[in-house]
Amino acid sequence: MLLTLISVAGYSKATVSALKCEYQINPVGICVAQPRLSWQIVTTENNFIQQAYEIRAAESQGNLSSASKLLWGTGKVNSSESVNIAYGGPSAKSMQRVWWQVKIWDAKNKATVWSEPAYWEMGLLGEADWKASWIRLGEELDNLASRPSQYFRKEFSLNKKVKSARVYVTALGLYELRINGKKVGNDLFTPGWTSYKNRIQYQTYDVTSMLSAKNAIGAIVGDGWYRGNIGFKGQRSYYGDKSALLAQLEVNFTDGTKETITTDSNWEATTGPILESDIYNGERYDARLELNGWDQAGYADSKWKSAAGYDFTKSTLIAPQGVPVQAIQEIKPVKLIKTPKGELVLDMGQNMVGVVRLKVKGNSGDKVVVKFAEVLDKAGNFYTDNLRAAKCTDTYILKGGGEEIFQPRFTFHGFRFVKLEGLAAEPTLDQVTGVVIHSAMTPTGSFACSDSLINQLQHNIQWGQKGNFLDVPTDCPQRDERLGWTGDAQVFSMTAAFNFDVAAFYTKWMKDFTADQLKSGRVPHVIPDVLSGGGGATAWADASIIVPWTVYQVYGDKRILAEQYNSMKAWVEYMHTRAGDKNLWIGDEHFGDWLAFATTSSSYPGATTEKDLIATAYYAHSSKILSQIATILGKTEDATFYANLSAAVKKAFIDEFVTKNGRVVSHTQTGYSLALAFDLLPGNLKKSAAEYLAADVKKMGHLTSGFVGTPLVCQTLSSIGRDDLAFMLLKRTKYPSWLYPVTQGATTIWERWDGQKPDGSFQDVGMNSFNHYAYGAIGEWLYKHVAGIDLDPQHPGYKHILLEPHPGGDLTKASAEFNSMYGMIKSSWKLDKSQMIYDVTIPVNTTATVTLPHAELAKVMLNQLPVSGSKICKAEQVKDATTIELGSGNYQFTYDSDLFMTKK
Ligand code: BGC
Repeated sequence: MLLTLISVAGYSKATVSALKCEYQINPVGICVAQPRLSWQIVTTENNFIQQAYEIRAAESQGNLSSASKLLWGTGKVNSSESVNIAYGGPSAKSMQRVWWQVKIWDAKNKATVWSEPAYWEMGLLGEADWKASWIRLGEELDNLASRPSQYFRKEFSLNKKVKSARVYVTALGLYELRINGKKVGNDLFTPGWTSYKNRIQYQTYDVTSMLSAKNAIGAIVGDGWYRGNIGFKGQRSYYGDKSALLAQLEVNFTDGTKETITTDSNWEATTGPILESDIYNGERYDARLELNGWDQAGYADSKWKSAAGYDFTKSTLIAPQGVPVQAIQEIKPVKLIKTPKGELVLDMGQNMVGVVRLKVKGNSGDKVVVKFAEVLDKAGNFYTDNLRAAKCTDTYILKGGGEEIFQPRFTFHGFRFVKLEGLAAEPTLDQVTGVVIHSAMTPTGSFACSDSLINQLQHNIQWGQKGNFLDVPTDCPQRDERLGWTGDAQVFSMTAAFNFDVAAFYTKWMKDFTADQLKSGRVPHVIPDVLSGGGGATAWADASIIVPWTVYQVYGDKRILAEQYNSMKAWVEYMHTRAGDKNLWIGDEHFGDWLAFATTSSSYPGATTEKDLIATAYYAHSSKILSQIATILGKTEDATFYANLSAAVKKAFIDEFVTKNGRVVSHTQTGYSLALAFDLLPGNLKKSAAEYLAADVKKMGHLTSGFVGTPLVCQTLSSIGRDDLAFMLLKRTKYPSWLYPVTQGATTIWERWDGQKPDGSFQDVGMNSFNHYAYGAIGEWLYKHVAGIDLDPQHPGYKHILLEPHPGGDLTKASAEFNSMYGMIKSSWKLDKSQMIYDVTIPVNTTATVTLPHAELAKVMLNQLPVSGSKICKAEQVKDATTIELGSGNYQFTYDSDLFMTKK
């Protein structure tokens, strides 16, 4: 005991925790040969930087402490890196589990104790590992107009004691796997949506505790993205007209033997109560056809038929790298509305995405129809015109005899209002539960300030992200679209990465860029591509570069840059070909500044920014980022080549689109924002261009930009010293503005500034989503600028943080938190008359530069002591600001400035 105490005294007081592998805690069923390991350090000590680390990995927990039995041991590595360190041991084999742990050294060269062990486990890595065969019900379903879901089952006995069991499972379509009467895992919409022709994910589940001596395994397979309706052109069966199941259960017994149970023609198959299920149209369920006990042993399946084999490749199977879709939360309706038309409608109080769980009672054969809408019309009636061809209807036929519960499996809806038809009596609020479904990303960010409308805007941005991050980042979640529109995702990616951990989510999505990109380098408009080619639109296709670049900046992830490099380069080369020697990208079809402000007035005939200008600006921007990426990856020749290319495009841009007085042609907010934000102006013309932008914003008094310009306008105004105008735009409540929808009761971000007009009438039904995150890209500016948490491009992953509050717009306080790979970052400011109170948290193993606006060094107090001469930090007066270099810890700054009294 004494010995232990003495040795503990020799250890660092810090501890290592939150061990992650490929952004997940103890992942099971991965395919990455050299997975990356990350950890966080917990200590009460300020200014803490890890001096060295040691990682060890072994096949079992027991082997970790035995040097000769390690798979990999780094020894002591002098480095402050604690994020995304690649495993360097021998590649683990299929189904192998690797245990690992880490310790670190502090500044006094004291090591911590070893962390708790963590692990990762490989999935099935090659086609040869798959012993299972694809199965399906048979031909009779193929040509039916309505498509019932298929049910599959198999019974088996296990006569020995089970040590561990894993099931590897996927489907052409969507599946729900069940063992002994229970659903396997919590994931929904499996196997997820990918470029199915090239990549189909399978899932791995630890089912050890679900097995017993007598077992039944079964699955339900629905159409989903694979075989259902997809895209707005009325397409069905885009990937194939046959749905199928593939499952392999690997059981290890305590005596060292094993058994494998696989899908094959010994499985039984049938159809059941799910008469039809479709992502756009909804689900039809006849409870009278339920197959009671079908997923348990002892069920009489004599009426089922033998499953048919299906000759389909297994070469495209991959383990998931993203985040599973799950039911994340439940909400109850807030009120029952009887509309003027007499409809019975429940208001969920929130525009949400997922399904409704319904409790009903009635007679066998009674039919309840559930319909979904985002808004009520002017008269207060249920409104579904904006859903276009999507029927968004669930139908439940009762079996009778007591309370029945219905929750559809293979469809989701985007809705706030739920209309119920066919109930025997008026519904009660208790009968309906909203099940919110999305990719189970960990929430990482929050923003709040003294203005409740802006707080509602932040709420709407976050709900827009929840609703549209259902395995793929989509434009909208409700109409016959719900596609991975690249442009929307591109502009929103940094905001998304504040709100939730999207590293794995985007890693998966980017692989589908590589899969679906055309040989010419053209990037399809939507990924996964279901519009059959097309693509190549400026600002949309650039997602191929900007999204991985965001992941690199936010998570310090170099691998995504390396893995996407060929795709990024191919896209820039495509632009190169289109632009030719003149370096101007002229004449191609683009979406342009999509949905920009339009009028019919001759004094302001709309804010059309020329597509050629946007295309050339993005060409310069993306080739510049590509050159930076090439530098990071050590591709020096490419780095020089693309830096020169970008410079040449910038020159061409200036010659073509900038007058010698600094007027940008097009003279629009978007035109100026692109030119300034992408650094496309000669130094001597920046000032006049900035003045033109400011003058336009002032004259109009509102935004005139669409999808391309809107994310840039406030940040550009801030960069030219016009926070006054940026805050004016933020705080405006009349159309067009971010807050106009908020004043109309919006709970998500709308596709159009005037989706619903002040008189209650609607925009064009052809395109009017009330849950479209693109305009939510203002979130980035709220976090970075208003609250003041910014990245240092030189030290990605928030290894070094830039903290700078920006009071303005009469706000008296604003604060943001962001849970980075290193831990929580906080930036929270409050004005009390002329006094600024600024609290920051800098995570362990990072440093920060704090910039205090209007701060005279001599007046700044840090934790109530004068900052000047402080031993904790280095402080400096830079013009009218004080900058301070700090290490990890919690700090409070206070100081006075009369300028805060007048700050608008
Ligand atoms: C989508 C958009 C998308 C656009 C292309 C629309 O139908 O909903 O968000 O970016 O098409 O311009």
